Amino acid sequence: MYSGVNMKQTMIKKTEDFVKEKLHGESSGHDWYHIYRVKNLSENIAEKEGADHFICVMAALLHDIADEKIAGSEEKGIQEVRQWLESISVEDHCITHILSIISTMSFKGGNQAEMSSIEGMVVQDADRLDAIGAIGIGRTFAYSGAKGQLMYDPEIPVREVMTKEQYRNEKSTAVNHFYEKLLKLKHGMNTSYAKKLADDRHAFLESFLEQFFGEWEGRK
Ligand code: ADP
Ligand code: NI
Repeated sequence: MYSGVNMKQTMIKKTEDFVKEKLHGESSGHDWYHIYRVKNLSENIAEKEGADHFICVMAALLHDIADEKIAGSEEKGIQEVRQWLESISVEDHCITHILSIISTMSFKGGNQAEMSSIEGMVVQDADRLDAIGAIGIGRTFAYSGAKGQLMYDPEIPVREVMTKEQYRNEKSTAVNHFYEKLLKLKHGMNTSYAKKLADDRHAFLESFLEQFFGEWEGRK
């Protein structure tokens, strides 16, 4: 006989293997190690905030499977995640909760809905934290390179407002992305523990930019 805890551990392990297999070779910033970091952050924040461990870990593991860049469309992705959760016999109320978290999560240029549960807040915070700090800087330059963008071009202006399509498709630069997204993320943190982590990561972004522009002008 499995205990409830063991069953959940088995479901988590199976889901890890499923996600690793699906994201193998992903180069759009959603590789397995992004998921690994979001899962670890989610576990740490969940513990501090008293959120449900199983829901947070499962939503963290599956949060990018439904991304339109990976699944083709968000609807298809959500359907696929539902089928996966049913196939490993996750309880219906947990499936509903996990799907509601991942369908509300993506940033999409800033035009997005608020999370309605503490577990959703935890995983959204973890995903946003992985976009800032040293890791966030690395991901931004990697993504920009993969998209053929320059790291910086003083002639390409920072966009103040943009639609989801503009956010995805218009030309920008790695450094512009700091102003268009990264520096805004700290203000959107839901939980107090994530806010603390975000403050440190945000300060790191600012000192990186100061050094970058100093070097750009040959002042440093
Ligand atoms: P999300 O789905 O959470 O919005 P994205 O898929 O937009 O994340 O981005 C994946 C990673 O690539 C993130 O670290 C993000 O900051 C970075 N990124 C996204 N868009 C750009 C861009 N236009 N220029 C540089 N980096 C980007
Ligand atoms: Ni993500």
